[in-house]
Amino acid sequence: MTLDRSFQVQLRQRVLFTQDVFSPENTTLASVCCDTLQRRVIAFIDSGVHQAHPDIGERLANYLGARAKIGEPVPELKMVEVVSGGEEAKNSIDVCEQVMAATDRYGIDRKSFVLAIGGGAVLDAVGLGATLAHRGVRLIRMPTTTLAMDDAAMGVKNGINKFGKKNFSGTFSVPWAVIADEQFLTTLTDQQFLCGFSEAVKIGCLKDPSLFNLIEQNASKIVARDPLISMAIIKRSAELHLDHIAQGSDAFETNEARPLDFGHWAAHKLESMSTYEIAHGDAVAIGIALDCEYAVRMKMLPQADSNRIIASLKALRLPTWHPLLSQIDQLLRGLEEFREHLGGRMNITLLKSIGESTEVHQMDSAVVAASVKALAH
Ligand SMILES: NC(=O)c1ccc[n+]([C@@H]2O[C@H](COP(=O)([O-])OP(=O)(O)OC[C@H]3O[C@@H](n4cnc5c(N)ncnc54)[C@H](O)[C@@H]3O)[C@@H](O)[C@H]2O)c1
Ligand SMILES: [Zn+2]
Repeated sequence: MTLDRSFQVQLRQRVLFTQDVFSPENTTLASVCCDTLQRRVIAFIDSGVHQAHPDIGERLANYLGARAKIGEPVPELKMVEVVSGGEEAKNSIDVCEQVMAATDRYGIDRKSFVLAIGGGAVLDAVGLGATLAHRGVRLIRMPTTTLAMDDAAMGVKNGINKFGKKNFSGTFSVPWAVIADEQFLTTLTDQQFLCGFSEAVKIGCLKDPSLFNLIEQNASKIVARDPLISMAIIKRSAELHLDHIAQGSDAFETNEARPLDFGHWAAHKLESMSTYEIAHGDAVAIGIALDCEYAVRMKMLPQADSNRIIASLKALRLPTWHPLLSQIDQLLRGLEEFREHLGGRMNITLLKSIGESTEVHQMDSAVVAASVKALAH
């Protein structure tokens, strides 16, 4: 007997931008987790966030207490735990195991909540734990960096690094909700703040020339951390990332093309080559610059477009070069690792112009080397 059925699963990704999420009057968090069956919640806080906001656990507890007092069926807060922030969260299974252990200890069932508050790395690692425990409990992501708000938290992926490879272990799963509180951004360093804009440049180059123009024209305001323009760009980038996932009909990446990974083959390799000293956002800026130089040399992208993109990255104080790029043989191994991660044929997204991309299935090593050299000047 052969049985063969197709079926569909309806998924939903909710993203809510807000300000001061734990002020007692703010209804955002309560609106996504109230349940007449009185659920439970456990919270994991990025150590960097905790250092900058030491009262955050207390504020969360007070918030839920205040909402409960006015009769709202908010979940009961069972635990707040601080976890390693930054890429360290993804470089071992520890954070993931912390989440599973707490899920067990505090009786978190599939209808209760895991709240992850942090940068993209903590969201990825806590998210993996939340998707493994009971085959998935409800995850609420609270991104606290520009990059997590304009890209990482919008995705339906989580994961950790393994075997020296970025995101080797992970799953696809859709969070219960994403809540972005822009006030968290005030405590980022300038480098942390700016590096998230490389993903906005990326998505603008791929899908929305007007977003790219906005970034290009306002780079100095972004560098000055003007909240109005910065948030407008972060929100537009978030929307484009989410639309790609929700409307691109390939949320779980079964097709060949992965346009959102423009600039990422070299970025991921540089991150692991530097043992994650290079931040993801910085690595993406370098990867974009490299693939622009390459596309120009392959006569795919006009020089003027490449110049504008690289100038914009530089105006955002993002790097477009790193000494590790000179280790060409090792860098090029990133292409095969990238292919292996995606499966099937090699598929690299390159630009034809700002706003238009295409796929190539091989890259010429000598041209990559020439592109690296050009960036060094
Ligand atoms: N799942 C996805 O679809 C997806 C997409 C893009 C990127 N990512 C991943 O996201 C990670 C990068 O995320 P990131 O750029 O947010 O960096 P990050 O998570 O490494 O955080 C950078 C640093 O900022 C600190 N921090 C975070 N929020 C803070 C705050 N509000 N105030 C003070 N310090 C704070 C952290 O402790 C850390 O030291 C990478 O691992 C990348 O692979 C995942
Ligand atoms: Zn990225």
